[in-house]
Amino acid sequence: MARSDIRFLLGFEPCSLTDCDPNRTVLDWLREDMGLTGSKEGCAEGDCGACTVALVDLQGGALRYRAVNACILFLPQLDGRQLITIEHLTDEEGRLHPIQQAMVDHHASQCGFCTPGFVMSLLALSKGGRTAGLDSPREAVCDAIAGNLCRCTGYRPILDAASGALDRGLEDVFDRQESQSIAALEALDVADELAIESHGRTYVAPKSMQSLATAYEKNSDALLIAGSTDIGLWVTKQHRDLDALIDVTRVPDLKRIEDKDGVLTIGAGCTYADVHAVVRDHWADFGELIRRIGGAQVRAAGTIGGNIANGSPIGDTMPALIALGAKLVLMKGWTRRTLPLEDLYLGYRKTAFAPGEFVVEVCIPISASEFRCYKISKRFDQDISAVLGAFALTLSEAGDVEKIRIGFGGMAAVPKRAKETEAAILGKPWNAATLKAGSATLTRELAPISDMRASTDYRLTVAQNLLQKFFIETTEPATATRVLAVQ
Ligand code: FAD
Ligand code: FES
Ligand code: FES
Repeated sequence: MARSDIRFLLGFEPCSLTDCDPNRTVLDWLREDMGLTGSKEGCAEGDCGACTVALVDLQGGALRYRAVNACILFLPQLDGRQLITIEHLTDEEGRLHPIQQAMVDHHASQCGFCTPGFVMSLLALSKGGRTAGLDSPREAVCDAIAGNLCRCTGYRPILDAASGALDRGLEDVFDRQESQSIAALEALDVADELAIESHGRTYVAPKSMQSLATAYEKNSDALLIAGSTDIGLWVTKQHRDLDALIDVTRVPDLKRIEDKDGVLTIGAGCTYADVHAVVRDHWADFGELIRRIGGAQVRAAGTIGGNIANGSPIGDTMPALIALGAKLVLMKGWTRRTLPLEDLYLGYRKTAFAPGEFVVEVCIPISASEFRCYKISKRFDQDISAVLGAFALTLSEAGDVEKIRIGFGGMAAVPKRAKETEAAILGKPWNAATLKAGSATLTRELAPISDMRASTDYRLTVAQNLLQKFFIETTEPATATRVLAVQ
């Protein structure tokens, strides 16, 4: 059975929307239809955080909060969830939420445009949204608000307010209403698949792998949608009409994470936030790379499958996955096939997907190779890479290169495996002469463009330097000293 109404909680109130445009953003709906203007529109592209709201999922009987950008979220993505905006934060007596009060007490707001977004990001953090590995509270706060921009107050008072409020430990209206929220989410009764036909557009949200495969095979012109952190901008910035959307995020099998028999398998529908901790446990650098994708709001919505399928030459996960030797499981109808990730990319934004075929999961072999990846961008946080280099190396006992895999982003029209450079290094002693040969091959093999992020020359220099950095980090200090003279 399918259902055409979107059911969710707005604050604590059940809400059912029929006949809504699947291309309508949550932010536009809140501000224009509901008159809830506390969430602001700064950039409409997920960058500034002024529109941040909290989405709450019921998972295993518990509430899971995450901050997301309402400007690039579509209304059907609310189905089955609780949407909390800045308007819902005051308590039963109308008093400010402790985080809001701390912002007042620390003079952390001037024009106030960004303030609701900061408060909502901090609310999600206070509800357990802390990124793994950030031990100091200050680091956790900086990480949580890296996707929120303030142009006038300055960040020190905001950080002080956040630390003050979170250090005190705060019980709030959401804690007191927890059991009612759980009951209200259960009562939404969203077991049936969502299938909307409205405003000349369709949006379906299959709940099983087979239902997804059938829907996409029947309508391969439809656009798959996951976290919409890429797709959202096609509507808000490029003003495209997305007439037929198929949501992949409601299929439990696409949310699977399995660490078994030397392979880490990640479902295409897993968000960066879902996988950060497990990836970090195996590859510290890859974990840190994921932590630096967008801000917390982007990582809470954006998926690994979306990154891979979008195929941007500057997408962050692909070079790392290529270096790690990851394989994709793809599905079309009842048929599955496996493909090395690098073989998905045929040219600029050209992929090897057959019509109606989608990514089920990515399988990453867990090996003893030395792995490093380095993201080079103008800002540390919330920035797209100019160059990304990823390297995996296994040496023989004699110190020769037994295995080497190299992935680069920003250096070609596609996320690129540097096969010629690998060949120039493979089987040789891992020493300065080999590094020199590899570096020379790298400049011949890679052909980056000049654009607003970096020039061709800069990119080529950085790519060579990253190979050298990897060499230094994987050799003894004495060897490293010799290497510094190589250029
Ligand atoms: P969507 O936007 O929903 O979809 C993207 C594409 O993937 C679409 O073509 C869709 O049809 C397709 N798709 C989705 N799932 C599947 C599937 N299972 N099978 C086949 N096709 C599928 N990216 C980076 O790499 N690094 C960054 O630092 C970074 N920063 C960002 C900062 C901001 C502010 C924003 C808005 C985006 C940023 N991105 C960044 C881009 C984006 O977040 C990622 O590419 C993200 O992984 C996309 O995933 P999604 O789930 O949102 O995909
Ligand atoms: Fe800037 Fe949404 S308006 S992130
Ligand atoms: Fe004005 Fe932050 S208080 S933008």
